[in-house]
Amino acid sequence: MAVAELWSKSIDIPRAVRWHDDAVRIIDQTLLPAEYKEVDLVEVDELIEAIRSLRVRGAPAIGIAGAMGLVTSLKKQVEGSGSEFRARLADHAERVRLARPTGANLAWAVNRLLAVADQMAEASNSDLWEAMRREATAILEEDREMCRRIGEHGLALLHDESTVLTHCNAGALATAGIGTALAPIYLAAERGMKVRVLSTETRPLLQGSRLTAWELSRAGVDVTVLTDSAAAAAMARLAVDLVIVGADRIVANGDVANKIGTYGLAVAARHHGIPFYVAAPSSTFDFTRASGDEIPIEDRDGDEVRRGFGRQTAPDDVPVFGAAFDVTPAKLVAGIITERGIFVPGEFAELRQA
Ligand code: MRU
Repeated sequence: MAVAELWSKSIDIPRAVRWHDDAVRIIDQTLLPAEYKEVDLVEVDELIEAIRSLRVRGAPAIGIAGAMGLVTSLKKQVEGSGSEFRARLADHAERVRLARPTGANLAWAVNRLLAVADQMAEASNSDLWEAMRREATAILEEDREMCRRIGEHGLALLHDESTVLTHCNAGALATAGIGTALAPIYLAAERGMKVRVLSTETRPLLQGSRLTAWELSRAGVDVTVLTDSAAAAAMARLAVDLVIVGADRIVANGDVANKIGTYGLAVAARHHGIPFYVAAPSSTFDFTRASGDEIPIEDRDGDEVRRGFGRQTAPDDVPVFGAAFDVTPAKLVAGIITERGIFVPGEFAELRQA
């Protein structure tokens, strides 16, 4: 299916990352919902800063921006010698790959570009650069397609008037397409179904209230924001049909790393008998790690908690537990919605083969 056809014509969905000539154009997500501003990234330092500060965020979008930014950052080197070009590629790739550690997609996308370079060992700089640009474009377009397919598989879990609780932002802003956890919701809306979304605030950086609520409300989807601490009460009182969240890394046994707070939601959902689903493309799977214990968890600066709202919210000298992600054990997950269908956690033979 052509890319243009993948985009809903009836629903206004933001484009988190795309090409603008030879720059990576992103929406600066640190400013939403108060301000909509697009920013162009070219240099590797700009790219790394944008990823670390969450101007571009969400595992798939980070991978896509990382691959595209790696390409843009090498444009000036095309005129130099082949050995200089390849040395710079290796250096930038390593730095970009390390920008955020938990999401699987970033290293996966960077490795795809390095594989192109390996296959073209004898190529000129300009031929290699063009081939890497094509590969980065393929990563972007494949992600759009995977989002759409995740949406189609996930749609089977929804009915008219479903209430879905989600956490953080696994929507269009986190991908190149219509999102992962939010993809079934967009498709339901496109088909005229009434779906109600409960979006947890997602402390400390508020991706749920700032981003999920922003993108769903402008698309005309019924969305209600709740504090993270209200989630269990909402499950008890608001007839939540299911939880759908995204993922940053899913490992071989089905354990899922996602935004801090996801694990608590899964525990609360189990208590209330509410099915807990994870939506993710195959680029988020990491079969090299056996269980969640092996997932690197990003620690963020404690000031994101101490000074979270532009004012002091905890004493300066108090330590903060700054884990940005947690691991939900596979046994709490009802199913993983992928572009290839819905999988029972750990039963990934078909995905592994693909
Ligand atoms: O720190 P963030 O905002 O990058 O965290 C994002 C999440 O945890 C998402 O749920 C995950 O990346 C999936 S996005 C499709």
